[in-house]
Amino acid sequence: MLSHRTGSAAGSAWAPLRPPPPTQFFMTLRDIGLWIRSARADATIRRKSRAYGVARAFDELYRDDQDPYGAADRRYRYQDRKYAMLLSFLPARRYRHVLELGCGVGAFSRALAIHAERVTGIDISANAIQHATALSRKYLNLSFRAGDVHTFDPDGRQYDLIVAADVLYYAVPSAQEPALAAVANRLAACLAPGGMVLLADHYFFGLDAASRITQAIHDTFPQAAGLQIQSRHFRCFYLATLLQRANGHAAPDGEKPGGR
Ligand SMILES: C[S@@+](CC[C@H](N)C(=O)[O-])C[C@H]1O[C@@H](n2cnc3c(N)ncnc32)[C@H](O)[C@@H]1O
Repeated sequence: MLSHRTGSAAGSAWAPLRPPPPTQFFMTLRDIGLWIRSARADATIRRKSRAYGVARAFDELYRDDQDPYGAADRRYRYQDRKYAMLLSFLPARRYRHVLELGCGVGAFSRALAIHAERVTGIDISANAIQHATALSRKYLNLSFRAGDVHTFDPDGRQYDLIVAADVLYYAVPSAQEPALAAVANRLAACLAPGGMVLLADHYFFGLDAASRITQAIHDTFPQAAGLQIQSRHFRCFYLATLLQRANGHAAPDGEKPGGR
């Protein structure tokens, strides 16, 4: 049984990709500005999505504000700390090709790029992709392209890590099983043997409706795609679930969590 804060089904010999950030209050007073900014962005998305769909809503959001969620804004501490924490949930191993879905302005893609040979970021908004590309010029192993989690074409590629941070919550807002299963199967189909999926979505102690949607997504997703839950991490404001492609596709011993 997984514990409430952090639970792992991966066994004991397990080394994280990087140590978790030191325990400290996770945000500053300035981060209140980040919450306000994100809440405004979400309100805009809700309003515009009803009028003309999620894709156009996000594209207009990124047209009017280059970083509507403050992901790359150095004034805020919360996002950086969250990305560092998410990296600490991953096993230390060689990541050849990482796919980040719903990459936004690419802040987490850049954090991943330090630990991977190659990272591809995909986002439904062409404007977000433009900003992500401009912000990532120094990263030679990082590329971005527009795409939708429901329809993106992996082009025959296989990924050993797929990350979906704060995207399924928007892409499958009602957490409907058939829609989630379709996305989960699409992702599972382009996972390399032993490949992993990291999901992270808003969560606040299961108290609000959004937390319950996240819980439903994180519970339904692995079942739908036959992925095994490796670990689950409840943090203030998000839930992260690490999944691995199930039997028949297990990594050889040297590549199991903890191997390099
Ligand atoms: C809150 S932002 C998160 C950005 C990034 N993952 C991060 O953690 O910093 C949500 C992102 O999901 C993207 N998105 C929403 N629906 C999507 C879909 N169906 N396919 C691909 N991207 C989508 C949005 O354009 C937006 O950039």
